[in-house]
Amino acid sequence: METHNDKTPFIASTLRHRAEEHMKSPSDMKQPVLAEPETERLLHELQIHQIELEMQNTELRQARDEMETILTKFTDLYDFAPIGYITLDSSRAISAVNLAGASIIGGVRSRLIGRSFGQFISVTDRQTFTHFLDTVLISPVKTSCEVTLLNKGKPPVIMQIQAMATASGQEFRLALIDITERKFTEAALSGKRLELENINAFLEERITQNVEALRDKDQMLILQDRRAIMGEMINNIAHQWRQPLNTLALLTQQLPLFYDTPEFGHTFYKENTERSMSLIQQMSRTIDDFRTFFRSDKEKISFDVKHIVKQALTLLEMSFQEQQITIDFQVEGTPMISGYPNEYSQVLINILMNSRDALVEHKGTDARISLKLFIEGDHVVLTIADNAGGIADEIIGKIFDPYFTTKDLEKGTGIGLFMSKTIIEKNMGGRLTAHNNQDGAELRIVV
Ligand SMILES: Nc1ncnc2c1ncn2[C@@H]1O[C@H](COP(=O)(O)OP(=O)(O)O)[C@@H](O)[C@H]1O
Ligand SMILES: [Mg+2]
Repeated sequence: METHNDKTPFIASTLRHRAEEHMKSPSDMKQPVLAEPETERLLHELQIHQIELEMQNTELRQARDEMETILTKFTDLYDFAPIGYITLDSSRAISAVNLAGASIIGGVRSRLIGRSFGQFISVTDRQTFTHFLDTVLISPVKTSCEVTLLNKGKPPVIMQIQAMATASGQEFRLALIDITERKFTEAALSGKRLELENINAFLEERITQNVEALRDKDQMLILQDRRAIMGEMINNIAHQWRQPLNTLALLTQQLPLFYDTPEFGHTFYKENTERSMSLIQQMSRTIDDFRTFFRSDKEKISFDVKHIVKQALTLLEMSFQEQQITIDFQVEGTPMISGYPNEYSQVLINILMNSRDALVEHKGTDARISLKLFIEGDHVVLTIADNAGGIADEIIGKIFDPYFTTKDLEKGTGIGLFMSKTIIEKNMGGRLTAHNNQDGAELRIVV
């Protein structure tokens, strides 16, 4: 007799077997009411069936309890997960959402079900999100996107949404991670970086401007120094011209004196004119030399240092002769420098004038300035030494400072050596130094 047809035959037979065993146990022995064998058999059958049902019931209850425990566990896991989980149906409406998800989009869970998820996304990101879900549908792997969610009454939050579609394509499962703080930090950082970049650019510009301003200032001082030298140079021109002018005057005076004498012939006339012309040319050259000196160098060129030194010495020759100063110049080889020749001779003239001033003050005998020009490794060295007693130890550290002078107001400006150092070190990348030797000061130019 098979009444319990919802069970498999195996389970049914074991259950029946167990029910029969149960019947045999003394506590379950019931006294038969009917004596007839058929009635007795039926009763037995019924009792067994009842026990069978009771046992089945117990097992079902146990199974249900187990299921409930598992369900509670998973509901708990889902609901209280720290990440927002949202399930969307094929029309992209919310079909399930956990507590974190509901809190992210800001609503009571029961009221969120059935609403379109798109409406919680900021207008600007809505299209991105629609595209994203379209890609999720065809992508076999988990993909993600970043959108801003509107949260009623609260500031918007930036979410990273990871999504997968179910195999049937009927559902989307979304995991929402709040990256607002990370985004703000990133934005703040990039803002700071931008700010720093701006500050850097500003500083660089300021430095360039300042360097330019300094260069302009240097250039102005170089000119100022050149002008200071100019006064001195006009004096030199006067000295340079005095002798040829005197000679020219003599030659001219000779003409009326000799005119009526037998010596006044063609030869006399020719010689007189030739000498006069030569003197005039010499004077003209002097003017040209000074003009060249006062011209500013436009660009760096390679020049023969010996030639420049000789030219500078010619400019000062006469006034130095007048002060009984001997100049001695020794050269080794043909040193060449890449730089500014007129600035180089300006430096040299500054140094020579300082030596002359010191020699005049010193009032020693055999006043002498010795110049030595030679090549040392990759450099061209020019030393200018005098025998005027040297520079006092207490001031030797200051002589290159701007406006440092030990001379009277009308004789010294204190910018000569400062400018000379600027020209040599800044404009030509060399070194200008000073030290004392036995008889006097020695200045050393290395370029
Ligand atoms: N050859 C030298 N011997 C002694 N003192 C010197 C010599 N060259 C420079 N000095 C000292 O260095 C100072 C600074 O020189 P400089 O800058 O040319 O300015 P200035 O010649 O206008 O005084 C001079 O006043 C002088 O005291
Ligand atoms: Mg000077």
